[in-house]
Amino acid sequence: MGESLAVLDVRTETEFEAKHIPGSVLIPLQELDSRTSEVPNSGVPVAVVCEYGIRSASACQFLAERGVKSLFNLEGGIEAWPGPTAAGMEGNGRQVHPIAPERFLIENFQLLPKGLSLDIAMGEGRNAIYLATRGFDVDGVDVDADAVRRARTAARKLGAPIRGVVGNVEDGTYIIPLEAYDVIAVFNYLHRPLFNDIREGLKPGGVVVYQTFTTEQPRFGPPADPSHLLKPGELKRVFDDWEILRLCEEVEPAAPGHPARAVSGIIARKPAEL
Ligand SMILES: C[S@@+](CC[C@H](N)C(=O)[O-])C[C@H]1O[C@@H](n2cnc3c(N)ncnc32)[C@H](O)[C@@H]1O
Repeated sequence: MGESLAVLDVRTETEFEAKHIPGSVLIPLQELDSRTSEVPNSGVPVAVVCEYGIRSASACQFLAERGVKSLFNLEGGIEAWPGPTAAGMEGNGRQVHPIAPERFLIENFQLLPKGLSLDIAMGEGRNAIYLATRGFDVDGVDVDADAVRRARTAARKLGAPIRGVVGNVEDGTYIIPLEAYDVIAVFNYLHRPLFNDIREGLKPGGVVVYQTFTTEQPRFGPPADPSHLLKPGELKRVFDDWEILRLCEEVEPAAPGHPARAVSGIIARKPAEL
């Protein structure tokens, strides 16, 4: 799934050597102009860090103007960073986490109303953590306790904590509260009875982001169980009475390290008044 997050440190070499976030890439602010091409720009979120969050805010603006996407400023800088730090120059250039958020989420982030979000079946939290790093208050639920623990730890290290809950969304032991969320996200997971719970769990005006495999997927790999595969047009039918902001049904071509996959995704807004 690639890298989940790159950390770009824009301080001086001396500051970096004294203390930095392990795995961060150092490009001092005054060198950014000549070294813009070294900044990761493949859709992986880039957390930009300096000492107090001020130079990094300028760096974010500078890079955004040059077309670098998915940037965010690490508020408060390294001084406010609660996670581990390292000293010295070793490790400069490596990135932090081995998981990336879904492109569908990154590309459509601007459509999401800020507030409280829920990631259902979040796994190790790559999408939940992304939302938290972008300013959302995030709940994440998964039946796998180890995955939830790893998600919580990774989020805390990034200074973007999430509320990770171990829960089973299929057997009635975890129930989505009514009209509680501004955003509900589901990626790579399908349990059809949840469609109604998601509809009820969003606040009026809230937005669902749902993307998972379609019945075309078995041509490329797992899953093959039809109960885990969306039928053609299914997401559109489920949210047909809502405002559909994005809809896709496609085969994503194979890329190095990623087999092709057939997915459908929707972003839909619940009416403000029903
Ligand atoms: C393919 S993973 C997707 C994880 C994450 N959404 C992502 O895209 O990285 C499917 C996830 O669904 C979770 N899951 C399966 N059954 C579940 C259930 N009944 N309740 C909650 N989570 C469940 C699994 O533990 C796993 O983490």
